[in-house]
Amino acid sequence: MLSSLFRGTALPGRQAAPSERDPFAETLRLVGERVILRPLMIEDAPAMFAYARDSEVTRFLPWEPAATVESVLPFLQDQVSRRTRQESLGMAILLAETGEMIGSTDLMDLRRIRGEGEIGYLLAQPYWGRGLMTEAARMTLECGFGRLKLTRVTAYADAENRGSRRVLEKLGMNPWGSEMRVVHGEDRLYIRYQIRRATWLAEFRQRLSPQGTK
Ligand SMILES: CC(C)(COP(=O)(O)OP(=O)(O)OC[C@H]1O[C@@H](n2cnc3c(N)ncnc32)[C@H](O)[C@@H]1OP(=O)(O)O)[C@@H](O)C(=O)NCCC(=O)NCCS
Repeated sequence: MLSSLFRGTALPGRQAAPSERDPFAETLRLVGERVILRPLMIEDAPAMFAYARDSEVTRFLPWEPAATVESVLPFLQDQVSRRTRQESLGMAILLAETGEMIGSTDLMDLRRIRGEGEIGYLLAQPYWGRGLMTEAARMTLECGFGRLKLTRVTAYADAENRGSRRVLEKLGMNPWGSEMRVVHGEDRLYIRYQIRRATWLAEFRQRLSPQGTK
């Protein structure tokens, strides 16, 4: 874990290959206990369609459920081009056991305010409630604070999206204001969360300590 956070910052005894250091490289792989993250690709369309067509998955997202495989292509094309411009890091979540793609995370708006980014995510419904997004989002944050050297990460969750709010809390993110958004034609209250690099590092060290039980 420690080595993955600081990968790319010249650990003694081993020089990382350039592609390993580049968080925007197509070859990036973040390997966790139960999930593996790798950059989203256009070829992910059928796997993404399988869950993006589910109205429960899109309930708190600013999209309608996908009607066809083709309808998820603009999302994937946008993810690939924003990664190429180093504006965001959109990652597919694969089940480590089978390699099946079951969702995605995104670190976005990386160029809007220097050193800052916003995290977002979604997961196929059959996999909810198993701690998989907590693991995937934690790996994404680790990449943001480690490889990307971010100083602050924000997130927005619908006030009624209890699962997403709990994921953010488990990452150590704190509520920091709110705003109204129109989603599926309704005015919705969105809670803004944030975490700073220093807090993340403190949480991270706590998890590494023998007493760290999170
Ligand atoms: C929100 C979402 C990402 C949660 O993913 P997940 O893998 O089910 O979350 P986890 O299993 O890691 O659970 C994290 C915590 O949230 C809790 N939780 C998960 N879903 C919940 C729900 N619907 N209601 C209440 N708590 C919930 C879990 O119990 C766990 O808390 P605990 O460890 O204290 O028990 C997933 O439901 C999803 O993709 N939803 C649709 C897309 C979406 O809303 N994305 C977020 C937009 S901001």
